[in-house]
Order: sequence, then C-alpha cells, then structure tokens
Amino acid sequence: MEQLNRRAVLRATGTIGAAGALATLTQATPWTWAPANSIPGVGTGADPRTIFDDEADQVIARVIDSGKVVEVNNLLNQWRTNSQPLPAGLPPELRDFIEHARQLPSWTDRGKLAAAVRFNQRRGTYLGVLYGFASGMMSTVIPKEARAVYYSKGGWDLKDRISKTAKLGYDIGALNAYQPDGEMVVTCVKTRMAHAGVRHLLPKSAHWVRSAPEEKPISQADIMVTWHSLPTTVMRNLEKWKVPLPADESEGFLHSWQVTAAMLGVQDQYIPNSWATADSQAKQVLDPILAWTPEGQKLADMLLDLGMDLDLTLLSRPILGALTRFMLGDKIADWLHIPREPVWTPLLETAWGPYVAVREGLLNAGLPRETYWLFDEFLRQFVLFYMAELRMPISIQIPYFNNPN
Ligand code: HEM
Repeated sequence: MEQLNRRAVLRATGTIGAAGALATLTQATPWTWAPANSIPGVGTGADPRTIFDDEADQVIARVIDSGKVVEVNNLLNQWRTNSQPLPAGLPPELRDFIEHARQLPSWTDRGKLAAAVRFNQRRGTYLGVLYGFASGMMSTVIPKEARAVYYSKGGWDLKDRISKTAKLGYDIGALNAYQPDGEMVVTCVKTRMAHAGVRHLLPKSAHWVRSAPEEKPISQADIMVTWHSLPTTVMRNLEKWKVPLPADESEGFLHSWQVTAAMLGVQDQYIPNSWATADSQAKQVLDPILAWTPEGQKLADMLLDLGMDLDLTLLSRPILGALTRFMLGDKIADWLHIPREPVWTPLLETAWGPYVAVREGLLNAGLPRETYWLFDEFLRQFVLFYMAELRMPISIQIPYFNNPN
C-alpha cells in the first residue's frame, strides 16, 4: 500500500512517465516459479520480490550509519582468501555476520566444483566474451539493475565497477575458486555486503526514487534475474554456438553458480536444481522483463567504449556493437540504438558457427584461415582486456555514497 501511495504521488506530480508505468506493471507480474524445482525441492511459497537480506542489511546499515565504512573497507582489503582469518578490529557484529556468511552451503558438492574447473579451463576463452559482453550488455536492459547501478556509486565510476564485476567472473572460473586458498567466498561475501549497502543508500537517492518503481532495490527475485543474465545466458549462447559440452562439466558449471547464488544470500528455495528448471525460471523472470531505460542506455554507451583506452583494435565500438547484436539479438540491439555494422554483423552471422566448429575440432575445412585468425585474435583481445582490468589487486567494497549526478 505504501508503495502504491508513493507511486500515486509521483504519478500525480508527473514524475513517472510511460516507461515507469510499464515498469510498475512488469513488477506486478507474480512470481509463479515452483519451489519443487529448487535445490531443496520445497519452499515456504514466500514471494522473493518482497524478500531482501535481513541478516546482512541490518549489520551493514549500522556500519554505514556509524561512519566507519572507510575504516572497515580498509580492514577488509586485507581479507583476500577463503580460509584466511578476518583482520582484527572489525565491529563484532560484522565479524559475526561474516563468519556465518563465509560458510559454504551444506549441499556443496566438491566433485561438481572440480567438474566446473574443467569446464572453465576448456571454455575460458568463450567465457571472457560471454560474461563481459553478453551478460554485461544484458544487464543494461534489466531495468531494475540498470537503474540501481546507474544511480549508485557504480554508475559514477563505471570503469571501477567493470573491474570489480570482472573479478567475480575471474574468481568463479579460477582453479581454486571455492578451495581454501581461492577467493570466491571472499568475493561473494563482499558482494553481499555491497548489495546490503546499496539497499541502505539507494532509497536516499532522489534520482533513484524518481525513476524506480520499487521501494528498496535488490530483492531475492532481482538477484535471480541477474543470475540468469550470467550462467543461463552463457549456457544459452554456448548451446546456440553448438559448443560440445560434456554433461558433468555443464552440471559442474551450474553447481558453481548455485553455490554462488547461495553465497550471495539467496535462499535455497529460489535456486534452480537443474539447467531445465533454470531455463524455466529465466523464461518467467528474465525474458519478459527486459526493456529499454534511459539509465540502461547510458550504461550501454559506456560499455561500448570499453576498449577505447587500451590499444585493442578489435574491441572498438562498432565491433562491440555488432557482437551485442549477434549475441543478444536484433530487438535488444535496436533498443540500444546500436547500428547494424556492415562488415562484422554479417561476418559473425555467417562465420562464427563454422569458426566454433573448427575450433572445437568438429570441422576441418570451410572457413578461410584469415577469418579463423581474426576471431581468434578477437577472443584473445577480450582476454587481454580482462588481464588489464585485473592487474591491480581489486577489493570489492561497501559503498558509502550514491552517484551524485
Ligand atoms: C555491486 C555482482 C545482482 C546492483 C556488485 C558487485 C558485484 C556484483 C561483483 C561489486 C562490484 C562493485 O563494487 O562495483 C552481482 C551478481 C549478482 C548481482 C553476481 C547476481 C547474481 C545485482 C542486482 C542488482 C545489483 C539484482 C540490482 C537490481 C548492484 C549495485 C552494486 C553492485 C548497485 C554496487 C555498485 C557500487 O555502488 O559500487 N554486484 N550482482 N546487483 N550490484 Fe550486484
């Protein structure tokens, strides 16, 4: 009711336009995905659009309100590996929260995580492009995420945000991701705390309040929507490209993301138990909500200029635009005002499939050698881009201000 009142006022004052009204309708779409498809196979039936992360949110709100965020962030910069003890000097309730949040879910399967490592090793070259571009550009047409990112500190310094998000993509694919000497537990818990910080701060941003239909950002449902822009979108593209994927490796890849969802604070009852159920959830919660927003457009424009500062000629704006069109389709590319690129769009459409087939050893002729090299160099430049992004030690932090613009 409170939400309706606030929106009624905003609408009456003309603050919400057609896009906002549409977003409200979209938000009203009920969550109907059955908990029978989740990891435990049962659930309370609670609507995840109304559930956030009480445990993290309360602790982090108090850290922010106490004015100690910078000090806490500085201390947490020293916490880098999964099994490393926490630095001394953290507020006791934060320490207790982290000690609890760093525990892996009881259903973690080490064998499946080992299969995920094989998947990441063999498919790593595609993953750079897929996480970086398919998932990254898709996030710009997930309205709630686009607004949250644009009006938070992340939108103010997108380059920094890209490096930090790249860290999650890198850490989850590392050989020791969830092993004691890996970094994925730390990355997840820090991300969970960053999200709690965003929940506390964004409702204080006049810009966000004006444009977002919800009272509070990053619900459990929102996290699962974004989750699908990552592993589900990666898997959909790999299948479309006919990359051969052994069943145990694809299951392992799913498992590493199931564990990640849990470590980000998502309740087990919302985490799909198989690729089939993940796809059914994505069809309900991701595909229908994709939409253009002015905030997403600005983020997409910034992302398309990603390679500009580096000497990576194949990561130019027109080529990245063609890649977006190829991976996410004409509708999304048209929303984002990405023109059809005359050389790369047809090249990707006709030659990417044969390139993947040759690369995977399924075909040994039918693709000009120059085209093969060009695509290989393209993938290599993505890897170089990530290496440049990740060359400095990166620590995900609790935000303490919103985008001032
Ligand atoms: C921060 C990943 C879901 C909005 C972050 C960071 C990571 C991350 C790695 C830290 C980067 C940084 O500090 O800039 C993820 C993953 C998700 C997810 C893996 C789901 C599986 C969401 C959703 C929203 C969201 C659903 C919004 C609806 C944000 C915002 C920040 C953030 C606003 C903070 C940016 C800043 O102010 O610095 N997320 N996120 N995220 N995320 Fe997420």
